[in-house]
Amino acid sequence: MAVLQIRKYPDPVLRQKAQPVGDIDEALRRLIQDMAETMYAAPGIGLAAPQVGVPKQVIVVDISTQEQGHPLIALINPEILEAHGEVESQEGCLSLPEFTTTLRRAQQVLVRGLSPEGKPLELEATGLLAIALQHEIDHLQGTLILDRASLLSREFYKKRLKKLTSAG
Ligand code: NI
Repeated sequence: MAVLQIRKYPDPVLRQKAQPVGDIDEALRRLIQDMAETMYAAPGIGLAAPQVGVPKQVIVVDISTQEQGHPLIALINPEILEAHGEVESQEGCLSLPEFTTTLRRAQQVLVRGLSPEGKPLELEATGLLAIALQHEIDHLQGTLILDRASLLSREFYKKRLKKLTSAG
């Protein structure tokens, strides 16, 4: 296993629409393992393949540091079938250093995808797990929390980023 480099905004790979996975082979399973290791090393509670420069529909989520009793979830070609309710929480993203914003998401989602073994899975999630799944599935569409944030906090972050990059 290997810790991969996490791509940061404004890397264009974060804006690409991720492609559905056709063949689930050893290389893909290795990617999933590396993504999990990268997520744990960061540390973070979720990671999508475009964040490590691979525009494929693969996500990993593990919220066990925040809420006990949840295993690592790895999903291939995930899609949201149903979304219910509303919840507001503060979100950050490993691709957006030093940016957090309060966002509204569905409180409960039903997600379908394939396991790393290629088995169809349906997953019902609420609360933090539902939020993390929605955040990672957003990445597969090229959507970042920056896009969902208010215009004001978006502009503020872009200005700050410019300062940071010109300083270093
Ligand atoms: Ni993210």
